[in-house]
Amino acid sequence: MPEPIVIDTPQAMTEWAVEVGRRDMTLGFVPTMGALHEAHGSLIDRAKQENDAVAVSIFVNPTQFGPSEDFAKYPRPFEADLALCEAHDVDAVFAPSPEAMYDRDMRTWVEVGGLADNLCGLSRPGHFRGVATVVAKLLSIVRPDRAYFGRKDAQQLRIVEVMVRDLNLGCEVVGCPIVRDPDGVAVSSRNRYLSVEERRQARCLNQALQLCERQVDGGERNAIKLIEAMTNLVQEQPDAEVDYIALVNAETMQDLEILEGHVLCALAVKIGTTRLIDNTTFEIAPE
Ligand code: PAF
Repeated sequence: MPEPIVIDTPQAMTEWAVEVGRRDMTLGFVPTMGALHEAHGSLIDRAKQENDAVAVSIFVNPTQFGPSEDFAKYPRPFEADLALCEAHDVDAVFAPSPEAMYDRDMRTWVEVGGLADNLCGLSRPGHFRGVATVVAKLLSIVRPDRAYFGRKDAQQLRIVEVMVRDLNLGCEVVGCPIVRDPDGVAVSSRNRYLSVEERRQARCLNQALQLCERQVDGGERNAIKLIEAMTNLVQEQPDAEVDYIALVNAETMQDLEILEGHVLCALAVKIGTTRLIDNTTFEIAPE
């Protein structure tokens, strides 16, 4: 595969994208924070299938990390990331510095009302403001026809969908399936922080989701009962600390008491010091 072109300024990135459009080619875009893995590979492959050219951004976005979060220690294996992009036939990698992305006098922020108040938004105040702002900036710079996001970050995906609709950003937002390792753990850049024992315990997130699925299949609709069962299962692991386990409407992200319609079952659990998230969805017909 030819090496992707590496671009580090917003202006050069836009020029490249405009040239792609001028040649009547469609552009797919995969925004990432690097530390690329198989799940990013699957987003890139989907983008390759559906577009003539593909750009990937690698940018550890400082504005979506809280003061006590892992921004400084977030992995930045740039050469390995480039190798993955090359192996997946990416055409361009956009890797700007924080200074190139954020003017010192930056005053404009994007907030998507109502969708960021629950789940990860509750435990990570300001996180989705940072995500929505950087994704809006990236989409304005890259101007893709389609942008690809993993469903593991279900709340992020919903926020991006609504932001793109509300701001007429003019690209299609494509949600892609969660990629799991053979032990059921959702693939994530943060999995590399887990010790062998923590990795074993991390299986409890997917196990809790499976338990919920079985109970819903068996007719249970009471959110409190389902959450209690999942919490008990997770708490069997000595190093697991529940951040949240929630059943919400998948469009509004608001808590449900009785499951109905398009339901998102989402959880965030700390295994040792590593915070992991996972989710599943159900479609439940009204009784
Ligand atoms: O999901 C991520 O990796 C990030 O939140 C994103 C969408 C690249 C924005 O920084």
